[in-house]
Amino acid sequence: MSSKRKQTYLVTGGAGFIGSNFIKYLFAKYRDAVSVVNFDLLTYAGNLDNLKELETEPGYRFLRGDISKTADTGSLFDENSFDYVVNFAAESHVDRSILDSAPFIKTNIAGTQNLLDCARRGGVKMFLQVSTDEVYGSLGGEGLFTEDSPLAPNSPYSASKAAADLLVRAAFKTYGSRVIITRCSNNYGPFQFPEKLIPLMIANIIKKKDLPVYGRGENVRDWLYVADHCAAIDTALREGTAGEIYNIGGNNEYKNIDIVNLIIDLMEKRGCGGGKSLIKYVPDRPGHDLRYAIDASKIKKRLGFAPAVDFERGIAMTIDWYLSNQPWLMNIISGEYSRYYEEMYLTKYKNSGEK
Ligand code: NAD
Ligand code: TYD
Repeated sequence: MSSKRKQTYLVTGGAGFIGSNFIKYLFAKYRDAVSVVNFDLLTYAGNLDNLKELETEPGYRFLRGDISKTADTGSLFDENSFDYVVNFAAESHVDRSILDSAPFIKTNIAGTQNLLDCARRGGVKMFLQVSTDEVYGSLGGEGLFTEDSPLAPNSPYSASKAAADLLVRAAFKTYGSRVIITRCSNNYGPFQFPEKLIPLMIANIIKKKDLPVYGRGENVRDWLYVADHCAAIDTALREGTAGEIYNIGGNNEYKNIDIVNLIIDLMEKRGCGGGKSLIKYVPDRPGHDLRYAIDASKIKKRLGFAPAVDFERGIAMTIDWYLSNQPWLMNIISGEYSRYYEEMYLTKYKNSGEK
């Protein structure tokens, strides 16, 4: 029996899509060597059903709290000593940030600064800020984002994430805090909230509802399977250098309309037909970034990380997961989300768009 002390993690936003996948990744890989506190406010996007399998795991604990409230984080850090902090907690959806930016400013900016202050006082070994390629803004037809690309965010969401990145940088420069920023491209996979493109299309095909494609569907995203993002974060946390930024990407660019058509085809093969007739072009998202594409050579060269799941396999696994977990999906669709959907799609686009 090993008497080695467990590595202690604070994972914020661990009840969300990527955070819950990351916590499960940690237990699958390091089981008895880790102890994890999942600190999450349980907003509309936080769902403890995502972590059911860990409920009886001795090294896992859930605490409800707000990263932007000093009272909540004060007691968290007073009562625990953490080796690692991984900050996933955020408002994460561009369309919601256009409807109302206030929670984005509070959680993504004020929350990150508050956590940085706590982590500094708590003397953590490493604070990893989970950021996004959206801080770089939009690309034209050519080129890739590198870690040196200028910050040029275009939505309230991406601007709030860029602001958080600058606060993380300032903590390093001013206080010598041990911090890392990772900037990842679009994730997909199990447990993603169905407001995002891929699970929204899967859910709507199941329900035989319109498939809303913004503009002409020509926008390009670089898709990465969520388990690969988790592995990259784990690598950066353990092997990365404080003060550095690491881009993470799938080298897997797709136009939105091609993704939608692919999902339709794959679901047709699984007995969910009729998808093509459901495609509905709706007015474009304001400030819609044309293209994201990541140069992930730094994390590969410096830390030896490369994704393991190719898109063909990842999208098939994702569709199969949603088809086998329809109670999870329907539970979300029938709750608060239905009000958002009504406001975002049914009221706004009622008399517009073409099939
Ligand atoms: P998500 O919306 O699924 O989950 C966010 C989680 O944060 C939820 O559990 C929510 O309850 C929690 N939360 C929100 N406000 C909080 C607060 N004030 N205090 C504590 N918890 C709070 O998001 P996601 O898609 O899992 O993204 C996680 C992180 O990864 C975000 O920081 C996001 O910017 C970043 N990211 C996401 C993607 C992507 O494609 N989804 C890509 C790159 C980076
Ligand atoms: P999304 O999943 O919201 O991620 P992000 O905006 O952060 O990249 O959207 C991915 C792409 O899909 C983006 O170009 C917007 C587009 N999109 C649609 O066409 N229809 C939709 O209903 C949604 C949610 C997104």
